[in-house]
Amino acid sequence: MRILLLCHAFNSLSQRLHTVLREAGHEVSVELDIADSVTEQAVQAYAPDLLLAPFLKRRIPESVWRRLPCWVVHPGPPGDGGPNALDWAVLRALPEWGVTVLQANGDYDAGPVLAYAPFPMRNATKASLYRHEVNDAAVRAVQEALSRWQAGLDSPKVERLGCWQPPFSAGQRQIDWKRHTTDEVLCIARAADSVPGAIATLLGESLRVFDLHPATEDALAGHETAAPGAVLARRGPALLIRTVDGGVWVGAVRRAADADSQSLKLAATLALARHCTDLPELTVALQASADEWRELRYEEWGAIDARVGWLSFDFLDGAMGLRQCVQLRDALRELRQRDTRVLVLAGGADFFSNGIHLHEIEHAAQQPGDSAADASWRNIQAIDDVALEVLSMDDRLTVSALRGNAGAGGCFLAMAADLVWAHEGVVLNPHYKNMGNLFGSEYWTYTLPRRVGAELAQAITQDRLPIGTAQALRLGLVDRVFSTDAWSFESLARAAAQSLAAQPDLDARLAAKRVRRAADETHKPLASYREDELRRMHRNFFGFDPSYHVARHYFVHRKPHSWTPRHLAMHR
Ligand code: COA
Repeated sequence: MRILLLCHAFNSLSQRLHTVLREAGHEVSVELDIADSVTEQAVQAYAPDLLLAPFLKRRIPESVWRRLPCWVVHPGPPGDGGPNALDWAVLRALPEWGVTVLQANGDYDAGPVLAYAPFPMRNATKASLYRHEVNDAAVRAVQEALSRWQAGLDSPKVERLGCWQPPFSAGQRQIDWKRHTTDEVLCIARAADSVPGAIATLLGESLRVFDLHPATEDALAGHETAAPGAVLARRGPALLIRTVDGGVWVGAVRRAADADSQSLKLAATLALARHCTDLPELTVALQASADEWRELRYEEWGAIDARVGWLSFDFLDGAMGLRQCVQLRDALRELRQRDTRVLVLAGGADFFSNGIHLHEIEHAAQQPGDSAADASWRNIQAIDDVALEVLSMDDRLTVSALRGNAGAGGCFLAMAADLVWAHEGVVLNPHYKNMGNLFGSEYWTYTLPRRVGAELAQAITQDRLPIGTAQALRLGLVDRVFSTDAWSFESLARAAAQSLAAQPDLDARLAAKRVRRAADETHKPLASYREDELRRMHRNFFGFDPSYHVARHYFVHRKPHSWTPRHLAMHR
């Protein structure tokens, strides 16, 4: 079939459906929902069999839904409606939620139900649920609706489980430190994370807050009598805030309390830096207990001659600024001293990595004596240092275990490891060009052709399409795909790493790895790859063409597209 994806933005769900539908043999084109006339033109030009709307903020024009089947993916159960479906489910701590595919009929979320896929809720942010459970359920529901349609079956009989729900008010997003318990604070924050963010007063300023985590009694020790709302300490990007019955870590803030005005999402310690100088830094060891919140975690297990190390780096949105890169590089240096046979790089739970930190770079542009170009330059060198640590680890096998998606430099960081494993819901974007023609670094000119050959490397980076795991496996971008969701993947990947570490031929495999690395180094040293890439990046950052700076500005401020990029809109 020819399927037109109509979406407000080509977001994670739209990308996932794009990969799944192409994998199922359909032809897929994309039109961003810019104006009714543009949608009408797209339908005219592409003549699709079906229009699928995974993420819309406006109605599909009547001239379109009357002309061809138009299906809307709604993140809620049958009968549920409204713009804040998932927010309500998180706020009410419902045990189950789901995704419905509806036939568009001119009313919001009101047409006949074509399929419904439920899922158990998890104690997580709205964005995290969207990136995992909603994505998986949407794929199931769309697949079911398609197979019923192709088989000529009627729509299923479904029970109405929800009702129309009004938009959230600003008051429902407000955290009151004097009134709300830790659980209530976390609930309000999770229902609003990542858009638009809960509102809270910190250090006398009303801010949007993100990335909240409960604090342990250890972290709060000595602060039992502090007033609710008091800022007690710092750790990495986060500030520790006293609540009425405990405390929370706040990882990121946006300055504007008004959700629509432009402001950057920054580490709380960066946005509020001038207030933080006297705050105690509560550092925590890599192997601290599981309930102690931090970005980097390390675990180790297995027999003495078959030990596995598991390093996760849960950086918000997968964005790796200078601080995160230095911290990760240092952790890798420390872990080199450990006697492990396999080291697993587990990235973050929502994203493996999305490369350099574009919000922090944009922030640098506003700082006296600094610039976005300088900050980009510092950041790319720092992430290259991380990739180099991985590439040069020749005494053990390294595995990137993708629990979430990876994009741009974050994707190539994954490929610095010997093996790349993923679960079937992962989407890769192994290209930089969408960010204003950025050339990219992270040693991609070494790792990508080594995996797929020069010709395919050229096609992948120029085509700029999201790549699903089935295709990634065929291309050689990943080595193993586990047919499961992110949560089962983690336990399966742990077991797989354990058996890898215990393989009798591991020494021979490591010897072969060293021989290959030495041969590659003789052919062209890693330093030369880096130098060549950085020469091109220097031009992107400091040269006459401002494309990268313009694209980054548009990206961080989520400025709407005024046309659909040609590589997505096949019909154009
Ligand atoms: N730096 C800072 N923030 C980033 C980021 C980065 N490199 N990549 C993603 N984010 C943030 C987004 O701003 C967004 O924040 P919000 O939810 O507060 O608006 C959040 O992460 C999720 O990103 P989003 O674009 O909505 O996710 P997606 O799954 O729809 O798309 C990507 C994934 C990777 C295609 C897209 O995020 C992207 O193009 N990122 C930039 C990659 C890049 O060019 N990196 C620099 C070169 S190495």
